[in-house]
Amino acid sequence: MTEPNLGSTAGENVPQHIAIIMDGNGRWARERGLPRTEGHRRGADSVRRVVDACGRLGVKYLTLYAFSSENWKRPPEEVKALMKLLIQFLKTKTKEMVERNVRLQAIGRLHALPPECQEQLHRSVEQTAGNTGITLILALSYGGREEIVDGVKSLIESVEKGHLDRAMIDNDVFSKHLYTRYYPDPDLLIRTSGELRLSNFLLWQLSYTEFYITDVLWPDFGEKELEAAVAEYGRRQRRFGGV
Ligand code: FPP
Repeated sequence: MTEPNLGSTAGENVPQHIAIIMDGNGRWARERGLPRTEGHRRGADSVRRVVDACGRLGVKYLTLYAFSSENWKRPPEEVKALMKLLIQFLKTKTKEMVERNVRLQAIGRLHALPPECQEQLHRSVEQTAGNTGITLILALSYGGREEIVDGVKSLIESVEKGHLDRAMIDNDVFSKHLYTRYYPDPDLLIRTSGELRLSNFLLWQLSYTEFYITDVLWPDFGEKELEAAVAEYGRRQRRFGGV
């Protein structure tokens, strides 16, 4: 059996890869009598703060659950507002990402996104491709089960085309057929707003990841909260199933 793709730590006890389920935008807005979209707008400000803070800490990969496969079921106006926000975020922040050496990537069924969103995403990914600092990975129209199904289809295709012998299929080979094939598995998963579930996020990749759940709502999450999560991670002992 091969070893899982575990990733490793960057600096002293700093996770190399952090994944975040950014939850609580709607509740943040409701508590203030504001429309849900205002919560998402404030959530986009948190994204910027957290990317910067991760860069400063020496985190190499940050994966953000920005839009799930299930989020398509939300009211059309909210979906539209989220797509608009994403386009606006990419349009206004790409220059800053280039300046700050951030490399942008995206995972998910990206072809399901509106064409304008795909085009802007493509442009931003291209413009930041040469950057060597933190890699920011946006999970968009992303579902863990969908990713596994797509991975199985990709494996079958490779076998049928004669590129892969089915006897060679193991954990590592399968990992190379997932959207995340270029990245190490997350070391730390953060979920905001206190819910205790995975919500179809990175089901394969989170096998040995440390979880950190906070009641803080995503629009209130910033550098201080990130540092608390990283400090807690530093106190964990990772055994990967050993003793
Ligand atoms: C969950 O809050 C959040 C989302 C479904 C979308 C996340 C999007 C952003 C943070 C903003 C845009 C992102 C980028 C990368 C620019 P919720 O609406 O489920 O909150 P609730 O559970 O309180 O209703």
